[in-house]
Amino acid sequence: MEIFYTKTALRQHLGSLKKSDMEMSIGFVPTMGYLHPGHLSLMDRARNDNDFVVASLFVNPSQFGENEDFSQYPRNIKRDIELCTQNGVDVLFIPDSSEMYLPDHLTYVTVRELSDVLCGHHRPGHFDGVVTIVAKLFNIIQPNKAYLGQKDGQQALILRRFTRDLDFDIEIIICPTVRESNGLAMSSRNKYLSSDGRDRASIIFQALSVAADQVYQGVTDVNRILEGVTKAFASVPEISCQYIECRDCDNLQPVETLEKPALLAVAVFLESVRLIDNIILERPGGNSNETV
Ligand code: PAF
Repeated sequence: MEIFYTKTALRQHLGSLKKSDMEMSIGFVPTMGYLHPGHLSLMDRARNDNDFVVASLFVNPSQFGENEDFSQYPRNIKRDIELCTQNGVDVLFIPDSSEMYLPDHLTYVTVRELSDVLCGHHRPGHFDGVVTIVAKLFNIIQPNKAYLGQKDGQQALILRRFTRDLDFDIEIIICPTVRESNGLAMSSRNKYLSSDGRDRASIIFQALSVAADQVYQGVTDVNRILEGVTKAFASVPEISCQYIECRDCDNLQPVETLEKPALLAVAVFLESVRLIDNIILERPGGNSNETV
């Protein structure tokens, strides 16, 4: 595996590879590091689908709000490099902030409407930061496919819409959420949870599963489904819910009656850690989609 710290060196390397093999396909896995099995599943998939795998490690300051955890975001570059080496990454890009943002950087990319709801409503500007850094990484790396996790379902939808709207010739592949044995979605932020917290956090997937069961039993009234989820969360008073919402999988508009697959998404706080998760709700007989 080769590691690059600058855009220029990475561009040169990828450019020379492309020249020597016009047909070579590049799969790209963008990450903020502190890798866990969810990231590794994206790398596996990229490895299977492509001739060449590029990953990036960059904790992107522009997607964190002023009072958020940018400076505390977990980092372990040495371990991340080992994991990338073991998981078939050919090229790893580890820029620092000054490499990605000049001091007078002024340009941000906004995907309207989709960025204003769910996490975007509670983290204003977050998705502008995500889309902007991904646009920059796409321009530098020029991959054929990019791999994202369903755990960040809204992010995945927004990035898919952005590549379509701005004519990036890149396929966005969304891979299923990888979970701990108790159902907790893998996330770098799980590191902040105590062992009790990790146990308690299993209620998140249990609450989402209550909704899936209701839908399986034929309930289509979304208010009723959300009541069931809220009740499940109430059994763990240490958890406070920021949102529990059911929205259309394409346009993220609120859904009142389940007619087609919809995204049931939650954000909660536990031990001051913000955790998100989601599932696709789908009436029996559907395709059992795991991803948006
Ligand atoms: O999902 C993440 O880790 C980040 O939001 C991403 C896509 C790498 C952009 O910084």
